[in-house]
Amino acid sequence: MSPVNQTASLRTPVRWRATLAVVLLAIPLLWSRGDSSAQQSNAEPPVRVPSNVAWTHETLVLISRGDAFRGLILARRCGHCHGEEGFSAVPAFPNLAGAVRLSFWKQMEDFRSGKRASPVMQEAVAALSTRDSADLAAYYSMLPTASDPQDNRAFPQAMQDPSHAQIAIRLILFGDGQRGIPPCQSCHGPVSYVNGAPLLAHQNGSYLQEQLENFASGSRSNDINVRMRSIARHLKAEERTAVSEYYGAGLGPE
Ligand code: HEC
Ligand code: HEC
Repeated sequence: MSPVNQTASLRTPVRWRATLAVVLLAIPLLWSRGDSSAQQSNAEPPVRVPSNVAWTHETLVLISRGDAFRGLILARRCGHCHGEEGFSAVPAFPNLAGAVRLSFWKQMEDFRSGKRASPVMQEAVAALSTRDSADLAAYYSMLPTASDPQDNRAFPQAMQDPSHAQIAIRLILFGDGQRGIPPCQSCHGPVSYVNGAPLLAHQNGSYLQEQLENFASGSRSNDINVRMRSIARHLKAEERTAVSEYYGAGLGPE
């Protein structure tokens, strides 16, 4: 088609009607785009919130009021995975005996909101209230951690590579200042405890390692201020294995 013919054909009424139709169709489209961008500027910034839990006074009071006796009754639904005495027979499942209340309660809320993904736990928390979680936290925090020949706990498991102990001890006691890794014991105890940090001293090694891998890959991202994701990413794969095995062997400081 020559340029002359093109201009001529644009002038035909058919073309005009087509152009008009396009313009009319575009108006609601432009309108809605303007509208949604206005909404966006009013809404929260598109930053993913790691957890709906904040350590407010109300939250701390709710958790501290947990009733261990109610927790004992509710825990009947948890024993076949986490062990009747809070120590699991499956090394990939976490132990709950001696749990830190704040950490326990936060994880329950994060499963509920989906901030921490686990189909199994999401189902387990679905029927529970925030008060039930506080009662369960009170109960499990009181369970003794001393070994018991009666149960079939997986914990502790001997380290696969005992030469890893040196790597683990260094990280737990001193961290690595050059890579900005604080000592594990400065948040997980016994030196000090950060709100929401669990005890690692009685935890199964396979479970710990899986969590460190999940933090490193970002598939677990419910840690406030990206604390554990950044630490796990800075650790080498061998170091993640070493600390997990060390704690899982019951060698970590209590
Ligand atoms: C069918 C097995 C199963 C049942 C039943 C179950 N859990 Fe769990 N629970 C798991 C698994 C598996 C995980 C680890 C989830 C993951 O992969 O991150 C977990 C994780 C948890 C955690 C997080 C522990 C941590 O250190 O972060 C808590 C707390 C917990 N469960 C409490 C409970 C309570 C309380 C109940 C009963 C109301 C319960 N679970 C019932 C399998 C179960
Ligand atoms: C600055 C404080 C801080 C330091 C240092 C720290 N952690 Fe954590 N860690 C946390 C907090 C807080 C959580 C709980 C995250 C959440 O809310 O889910 C956590 C969670 C974890 C978990 C998940 C446990 C579970 O039961 O699900 C593992 C594993 C872990 N940390 C290992 C380590 C190791 C190993 C080190 C040392 C190399 C370390 N952490 C150093 C604060 C810290």
